[in-house]
Amino acid sequence: MKVILIGYMASGKSLIGSELAKILNLEYLDLDQFIEEKEGKTIQKIFLEKGEIFFRKIENSYLNEILSSNKKMVLSLGGGTPCFSNNLKLLTENKDIRSFFLNVPVNELAKRLMNDKNNRPLVKYVTNENDMLEFVGKHLFERLPFYNQANYKVDANKSKGEVIESILNML
Ligand code: S3P
Repeated sequence: MKVILIGYMASGKSLIGSELAKILNLEYLDLDQFIEEKEGKTIQKIFLEKGEIFFRKIENSYLNEILSSNKKMVLSLGGGTPCFSNNLKLLTENKDIRSFFLNVPVNELAKRLMNDKNNRPLVKYVTNENDMLEFVGKHLFERLPFYNQANYKVDANKSKGEVIESILNML
């Protein structure tokens, strides 16, 4: 089985995913990190040099590569992964996957992103909290129909321990 975490940027996918993998004694993979290692470049650099369309293409092919192995693991996706190419189909049609949407309210996401935006090409240039709130509000609204197709929805506006406990209870 693969446990897959999806959700908006800064919803805690990587933090929760790596902890969860330790608890479950499973391998942990972070799709963005996997892409960076394979390409030998940061996501930031890939966006800058080759653009988002190229990034979405390789994101799709690396996701395919990971999902085609039958290794058990915890996998954290990028915030946009379920919303592009046939990625959502790959996730929902695979019976070996349990997917969890880490749901965090817009104001909390905007706050977290203001403090951690430099490595995120999509929000890097947002300079004040109001603009961030407006951007995240609209963007998340567009993405919710994709995120809501996860097998489980988790209230992730809680401590790391509480979020992990909720996931363990649903597994
Ligand atoms: C993206 C989220 C990022 C990364 C890329 C695009 C998005 O991952 O994949 O910058 O479209 O939301 P995180 O969700 O880990 O920040």
